Amino acid sequence: GLVNTREMFAKAVKGGYAIPAFNFNNMEQMQAIIQAVVATNSPVILQVSSGARKYANQTLLRYMAQGAVEYAKELGCANPQICLHLDHGDTFELCKSCIEMGFSSVMIDGSALPYDENVELTRRVVEYAHQYDVTVEGELGVLAGIEDDVQHESHTYTRPEEVEDFVKRTGVDSLAISVGTSHGAYKFTPEQCTRDENGILQPPPLRFDILEEIERRIPGFPIVLHGSSSVPQDKVATINKYGGALKDAVGVPEEQLRRAAGSSVCKINIDSDGRLAMTAAIREVMATKPAEFDPRKYLGPARDSLKELYMHKIEKVLGSDNKI
Ligand code: G3H
Ligand code: 13P
Ligand code: NA
Ligand code: ZN
Repeated sequence: GLVNTREMFAKAVKGGYAIPAFNFNNMEQMQAIIQAVVATNSPVILQVSSGARKYANQTLLRYMAQGAVEYAKELGCANPQICLHLDHGDTFELCKSCIEMGFSSVMIDGSALPYDENVELTRRVVEYAHQYDVTVEGELGVLAGIEDDVQHESHTYTRPEEVEDFVKRTGVDSLAISVGTSHGAYKFTPEQCTRDENGILQPPPLRFDILEEIERRIPGFPIVLHGSSSVPQDKVATINKYGGALKDAVGVPEEQLRRAAGSSVCKINIDSDGRLAMTAAIREVMATKPAEFDPRKYLGPARDSLKELYMHKIEKVLGSDNKI
């Protein structure tokens, strides 16, 4: 069946790699993820956001994730390591509902709350979740977000001096931190970047100094990086070539994620890159084969493109291949 994150993270921290946490909202995304992890023999975290629950229905998603374990076995993986995780839970009740629904892991994101309220909410979720052997991810520090009015202005980096107290008082199994990543395909403004000789935006580096200070204070404790899409420029170019309008989209360079994966960062969240891969593939079919109207003729290529992207992340960035 589905597994929680405990053993995955212990092995990843020791082994100097990171577990991929891929969001899914539909069957094609789920199939691509499972095909990629079976092909690479990688553990995986399937993430469901509140938005995914609204879009796809939580019951369907839950059975799809349970079906994913059987699907992986059918594809030839004898012992699949698949975790079903709630991404960015914002209330105790939502976490409780997901636990009742069979999720094996939840995130309670109290990062926007005052410190003591974050501690209290997170502690409550941990106390409930651990009765069912469900693992819990908490968060300290606020990521910049596309949903913020003042994008990229409102983030606060994680304060290393808080992490030890937080993990002790809450009992969380992993901690998401803010070291310069953000959600979406526009992680840095052009003003924050430099341009290389080809006019491609080069983002500022992540705050590895903060990560290292956190590692000094809670050695070996599992750290999570949200907002870790790299926004592949070939996908952006394909989207724009076929009628898209993504201007100055920029992500976290893979080299930096590789470095993070070698540290106590043991879960790396990627959603936007999959969205870009799907959209590029679908736009290309729509533009080059205008007579097609069978959804399988564009969702199929989108699924293949996603699988390739996920395999690349696993083998070339996170290093979670052959870890089952
Ligand atoms: O945290 C952000 C994830 O990419 C999920 O996005 O809330 O649009 O499903 P979503
Ligand atoms: P990206 O938007 O960078 O893919 O981040 C996804 C994420 O953090 C989901 O929780
Ligand atoms: Na790691
Ligand atoms: Zn996130």
